[in-house]
Amino acid sequence: MFVSSLKVFKFRNLADQTIELDSGAVYINGLNGNGKTNLVEALYLLSGSRSFRTNSTGELLKWGEREASVFGTVVSKNGSEELGLIFTPGERTAYSNGKALDSVTDLIGRLRVIAFSPADLSLVKGSPSGRRKFLDRHMVDLSPGFIKLLMAYQRALASKSAVLKQSGIDYSHIKPWNELLAEYCGKIVDNRLNFIKSLGERAAEFHNQYATTDGELVITLESDFIQGEQILSQNDILDKFENAAPREMMTRTPVLGAQRDDLAITLGGVDARAFASQGQTRSVVLSLKLGVIDLLEGLTGESPVILLDDVDSELDKGRSERLFTALLSKPRQVIVTGTEAPSDYLLASGNLCTRTVSQGKVVP
Ligand SMILES: Nc1ncnc2c1ncn2[C@@H]1O[C@H](COP(=O)(O)OP(=O)(O)OP(=O)(O)O)[C@@H](O)[C@H]1O
Ligand SMILES: [Mg+2]
Repeated sequence: MFVSSLKVFKFRNLADQTIELDSGAVYINGLNGNGKTNLVEALYLLSGSRSFRTNSTGELLKWGEREASVFGTVVSKNGSEELGLIFTPGERTAYSNGKALDSVTDLIGRLRVIAFSPADLSLVKGSPSGRRKFLDRHMVDLSPGFIKLLMAYQRALASKSAVLKQSGIDYSHIKPWNELLAEYCGKIVDNRLNFIKSLGERAAEFHNQYATTDGELVITLESDFIQGEQILSQNDILDKFENAAPREMMTRTPVLGAQRDDLAITLGGVDARAFASQGQTRSVVLSLKLGVIDLLEGLTGESPVILLDDVDSELDKGRSERLFTALLSKPRQVIVTGTEAPSDYLLASGNLCTRTVSQGKVVP
């Protein structure tokens, strides 16, 4: 699938404009601070996800404005659809073909986007929550229904947390929540294990081709509810919850659950979270995302839109070239930003569409 045009209104520093895009490689060129990442962010938001830069909708509005919007035409094997978002401080409303959708999450699955931005480096180096978000987001890409399970889990967890804060409670007050949480945790962890298994195989294969000297990439789930690589039985999960209850009632906070899962990442047997270099970190993130692209293509029969914001800057020439050669080996919309003229391997892709962003205005 690809985005054929993007219309932005009062969005960050971008001028109000409609930008036409080609279905293949698109290079967005511009000096620092001119609006490249803002443009990529606008495209990304149409996928229904929260921004990779901020959780605050208000930041998306051009300074001093009260409303901003992003609309885009998506062409996929199902035809063409106009998706849109209107932002006001603290609120987002999503649209499809001019009709408001019930919720922004209804956008999910209509435009699939895999983005890589410098912020993604925290996927390897940052806290476990970033890695859980990575898992959850891409699992939702692959099966949009998974978001319902995640949301149900969050609600049950919030209810249990509220009960734990009350005074004078005993186990009978949290038992019903534990039963529900045990059931949800079983499902979430099972889904995560399956996803990591298929993703791990693909990511390792890609990593091996393109970051040839870094050692084998292996990803595994760390969870309260697995032993070896097997998920515990439902009864064992519930037992764990019961055993944790005295501690939870003492600390008045949940100490167990899928919200504590982490993704272990090793390179040649060494923990990448602690020891990978900048370039190696970037390579791991790219391999993981390429793995996701491969999974998505296998499942949906079409390529997601690929956004690469500023990825070149820390990869050596060989890696960059192998990365772009792999990405451009199939018909895919790959939108790349950079501050310099497009590299030879981008130009080699044939019909490279180049746009320049200058002070928020895109010129051909
Ligand atoms: N809400 C906003 N309203 C107006 N301007 C904004 C807003 N948010 C960000 N900006 C400005 O937009 C400009 C462009 O930002 P952006 O991150 O897109 O630049 P960039 O081209 O990606 O630069 P770099 O090459 O350094 O990554 C910045 O100067 C930033 O201060
Ligand atoms: Mg940028």
